[in-house]
Amino acid sequence: MVPALRMNSTLDLAIRASSRASHQILEALTQSGLKCTITNSVRSTPIGVIKGVDHLRSGKVDRIDAEFLDHLISRNIIPIIQPIGFDRNGHTLRINSDLLAIEVAFALKATKTIFMAELDGLELDGSIARQIPVDSLEKSLEQNRESTIPENMLSKAQNALAGVKGGVARVHVLNGHIHDGLIREVFSNEGVGTLVYGNEYQQIRKATRADVTLIYNLTSGSVEKEELALRSIESIEQEAPNFYVYEIDGNLVGCVLIKRFPEDASTAEINALFVHPMHQRQGIGSNLTKFACHTLRDEGATRVLALSTQSLGFFESMEGFEEISPEELPKRRLEEYRIGKRNSKVFAKPL
Ligand SMILES: CC(C)(COP(=O)(O)OP(=O)(O)OC[C@H]1O[C@@H](n2cnc3c(N)ncnc32)[C@H](O)[C@@H]1OP(=O)(O)O)[C@@H](O)C(=O)NCCC(=O)NCCS
Repeated sequence: MVPALRMNSTLDLAIRASSRASHQILEALTQSGLKCTITNSVRSTPIGVIKGVDHLRSGKVDRIDAEFLDHLISRNIIPIIQPIGFDRNGHTLRINSDLLAIEVAFALKATKTIFMAELDGLELDGSIARQIPVDSLEKSLEQNRESTIPENMLSKAQNALAGVKGGVARVHVLNGHIHDGLIREVFSNEGVGTLVYGNEYQQIRKATRADVTLIYNLTSGSVEKEELALRSIESIEQEAPNFYVYEIDGNLVGCVLIKRFPEDASTAEINALFVHPMHQRQGIGSNLTKFACHTLRDEGATRVLALSTQSLGFFESMEGFEEISPEELPKRRLEEYRIGKRNSKVFAKPL
């Protein structure tokens, strides 16, 4: 028979620390009139012996009782899950809280996990990164550049990577010492800390009717500066099926319209490309442009056009785009171009 696992001092400390933290959360939620409960929803197994080191009472996640957690959430009861699990015999094991958070996110099919950390976010190459695509984070960790990520943030970085690769769309790392950090992250457009996100087009989606006013408001400043052509809410509504939007944490920060020409299916146009000034120069415009090009190539188009009055440097920097004469525009588009009198420069890229 396997002897019962004995309590060790690390486990004892973990129990006391997590009980204290859970109590503080219970107290704060209760003061705000919210229902909550501490749960025993995690089954764990010992990590065992790795490279000759016995991890004693440290455990890994064996099973999360998602049904129980879903039931509580459906009743508006907030589950508090301590980084403490129980093995099949009910013995207590401590679990890395970052790992547990990601396992809970997987079990609940969450789209986002927020880590409260010691620092302002994940540091890459000496400064806090506001957004890190998961591929870049993976490369940094692979290339043994852990030293650029402080020791106390390594577990967050590794688990953020595992989370996004495993299907959690976004993992956010925030400074837990900032009083209103969580509220600012959830309710402000700007966000704080570091956002780790999935594949490069994951944040682009087709626009819906609900986005029409948002697109109008987002682009209106650019219309005033004559960067973009004037568009009424009604025309955006009509064109909505061809609009794509770029979202960061549920906020619309960019858009692009793919304009097709019924008389010439081989050619299409990237139109109404816009990125909110606060998010410019972060690769979002290039991402939307590349996405539009991929979409059109998949549809069989062989050439994409783009017209611009003031963002000439952007299209000049995009691979494959070259300025052409407006006379090369499809016939109806050329008529529109002449009537509009915007004298935009015209760029084209073979697909
Ligand atoms: C054009 C626009 C969409 C670019 O969006 P963005 O997200 O800032 O672009 P990116 O970050 O992907 O930029 C990629 C590269 O383009 C170039 N670039 C971007 N904006 C530029 C500008 N205003 N002037 C010169 N080059 C620019 C740079 O080379 C940049 O790379 P870098 O940041 O490494 O220097 C954005 O500036 C915008 O919304 N402008 C107003 C609307 C508009 O003019 N739309 C185009 C008409 S359809």
